[in-house]
Amino acid sequence: MNQNAHEPRSLPVPGTDALAASEALVALVRDEIAAAGGWLPFDRYMERALYAPGLGYYSGGARKFGLRADDGSDFVTAPELSALFAATLARPIAQAMAASGTRALIEFGAGTGRLAAGLMTALAALGVEFDSYAIVELSGELRERQRETIEALAGPLAQRVRWLDALPDQFAGVALGNEVLDAMPVKLFARTQGVWHERGVATAADGSLTFADRIVGSDGMALAEYDAAALAAMDTEAAADIDYVTETHAAAAAFVRTVCTLLQRGAAFFVDYGFPRHEYYHPHRAEGTLMCHYRHYAHGDPFFHPGLQDITAHVEFTAMAEAGVDTGADLLGYTSQARFLMNAGITDALAQLDPADVAHYLPAANAVQKLLSEAEMGELFKVVAFSRGIDKTLDVFARGDRSHSL
Ligand SMILES: C[S@@+](CC[C@H](N)C(=O)[O-])C[C@H]1O[C@@H](n2cnc3c(N)ncnc32)[C@H](O)[C@@H]1O
Repeated sequence: MNQNAHEPRSLPVPGTDALAASEALVALVRDEIAAAGGWLPFDRYMERALYAPGLGYYSGGARKFGLRADDGSDFVTAPELSALFAATLARPIAQAMAASGTRALIEFGAGTGRLAAGLMTALAALGVEFDSYAIVELSGELRERQRETIEALAGPLAQRVRWLDALPDQFAGVALGNEVLDAMPVKLFARTQGVWHERGVATAADGSLTFADRIVGSDGMALAEYDAAALAAMDTEAAADIDYVTETHAAAAAFVRTVCTLLQRGAAFFVDYGFPRHEYYHPHRAEGTLMCHYRHYAHGDPFFHPGLQDITAHVEFTAMAEAGVDTGADLLGYTSQARFLMNAGITDALAQLDPADVAHYLPAANAVQKLLSEAEMGELFKVVAFSRGIDKTLDVFARGDRSHSL
């Protein structure tokens, strides 16, 4: 699905500096393609496009999160939509901390810092004692933005925040990542007339970047164990006689594995959009789930202004659950975002606002509708949680847990 040819004309054109940065990123990728003999796997391209120092989407200067295209942002996430998201998430987090006897939090990829500020404020209001809130953030620019947001919104609680360059070796407490797994590099595979190809990136005659397919197993190209298993699952789930494009998620699975390994006691919550394996590799999803976001315009072309747009793929939650459970962690629960937030009391939180205060109530009500609606984020987004040392079901998974569907 490439809508660039007609749609972007109506989109804001990037400034000269942004276009120059994008060109520099393309030149960097072209050099890497040449050094690799003319072809790069897609996950390497995605890693460069999002995280190349100074040039990648998350490591460069793009504004990224916000409500509208005219504020220079590209997409909105739940913590940006409404403070009720953080306030609601605080309840299961408080319960997990109490059940595991822990007093620390760690967040991966903290965006603008709104979730951190909102969570700390809500936990303090619930009377939860916590010592520290660590943030693992790859982007220096986002760190600064987080620091400013948290200082502005969380007051003295901001002193409990510290930033880490990498995951710690061990952690006891509650870990969380909202829309982090979807931002991890994926490999692309295309099954054409029954033959699996790995879809990578090459340089076209005019110097632009383009997709290039290689037959899996050709040129001595070995398939990683993870991808071989995923392709076998796809052949089972997605009728083998249709052409099919899809993704594999080794980086996200490795991340979940690492987090569940370092978690000594407590819980890890991941919120993201995606499906369990049997839905992910459904014949109806024959074009895959790769999705790009530029100024609130969603499309499927990862080569549109590289470095200036987000590139994501939906999460395959069965693979995430397997990765976590493999480490010996317990699967604490898996459910839709709507069910999770309702179980955690988001509608009660909304009901506490005064409907007569239209300026506050209406945006909050609209945001809750968006977070819960089946047609918007409520059903597409899921929450998966892992734990160690928690021997009870959290209230938030007591009704509507879908772990059996993984
Ligand atoms: C779509 S944004 C979500 C930001 C924020 N959580 C929110 O909901 O607004 C994805 C974030 O994940 C971060 N990320 C990706 N890989 C990561 C990793 N290995 N460790 C920590 N953060 C990572 C990115 O840097 C980016 O900040």
